[in-house]
Amino acid sequence: MTGEELGRVLVVVPTYDEIHNLEPVVERLFAAVPEAEVLVADDASPDGTGELADRMAAADPRVHVLHRAGKEGLGAAYLAGFAWAIERGYGVVVEMDADGSHPPEALPQMLERLRTSDLVLGSRWVPGGAVVNWPRSREVLSRGGNLYTRLVLGVHLRDVTGGYRAFRAATLRGLSLEGVQSQGYCFQVDLAWRAVRSGYRVAEVPITFVERERGESKMSQAIVVEALWRVTLWGVRDLPRRLLRRLQALAQPRLRES
Ligand code: GDD
Ligand code: MN
Repeated sequence: MTGEELGRVLVVVPTYDEIHNLEPVVERLFAAVPEAEVLVADDASPDGTGELADRMAAADPRVHVLHRAGKEGLGAAYLAGFAWAIERGYGVVVEMDADGSHPPEALPQMLERLRTSDLVLGSRWVPGGAVVNWPRSREVLSRGGNLYTRLVLGVHLRDVTGGYRAFRAATLRGLSLEGVQSQGYCFQVDLAWRAVRSGYRVAEVPITFVERERGESKMSQAIVVEALWRVTLWGVRDLPRRLLRRLQALAQPRLRES
C-alpha cells in the first residue's frame, strides 16, 4: 500500500490516580512508536500522577501535560485533549488508557489501518480480539452494552464502547465536538456513532485488552446509568431518520425500474 501521509501522532492518555501505571505504559508506547508524542490529561489526581507527568515531560520532549482542575470524567478530559491536539496541528489523535489495558504494541497496526479509514477502533469483540483477566461481570457488562447499543442505534460495530482508538484529526474536526455532552464512558459510543452518521470510514482492528494490575477502575454505577439513558435517548431521537432510510431503501429498486 503506498503511504498516504497521516501527519504527526499524538496519543492522549487521560489519568486519574495512575501513578504506578503511567511510566510503564509511556515507555511501551515509545518502544512501539518512537515518533509518537503523548499528552497526559490529568484531572488533578490526588496521588500525584500530574506531578509525575510533569517530571516525565521535563525529561522527554515527546511528553506533554494538560492539567485540569478536578475530576470531570473521561469525556471532558478527552475533549480538552482533542482541542489541544487540533490547535497544534497533529494529524492523528489516539485515545489510550493509562493502565496498560490497551497494548501500545498494537498501535502500529492501528495506524496502518488508519491510512485507509477515518477512525480505527481497537476492538475486543471482533475475531482475534480478546479480554484477559476481566471478572465475568465486566465481560457481561461490555458485551451487553455493545449488544444494546447495536440494537438501539443500529450501528454495525462490534466494540463501540472501547477506549482504544485512532482518529484522523480531520475526522475529529468534522464531528461537531462542541455538541458532545457525554461525561463518562458513553463518550466512546457518542463519538463512534457520530463518526458513522457523518459517513466516515470506521474500521475495527482486533486487540487484546489486559485488565490493569495496579490501581483501580473508575467505572461506576453512575457511568453505567449515564450510558444507558443517553444511548436510549439517542436511539429514540434517531428513529425517524432510520425509518426514513428503511423506506427509501425499499423504494429504491422501484425507482430504478421506472
Ligand atoms: N482525566 C481523567 N478524568 N481520566 C479518567 C477519568 C476522569 O474522570 N476517569 C477515568 N480516567 C482514566 C483512567 O485513569 C484510565 O487511564 C482511563 O481513563 C480508563 O479508565 P479505567 O477506569 O481504567 O476504565 P476501565 O478499564 O474500567 O474501562 C475501559 O473499558 C470501558 C468500556 O469498554 C476503558 O477502556 C474505557 O475507555 C472504556 O469505555
Ligand atoms: Mn482500565
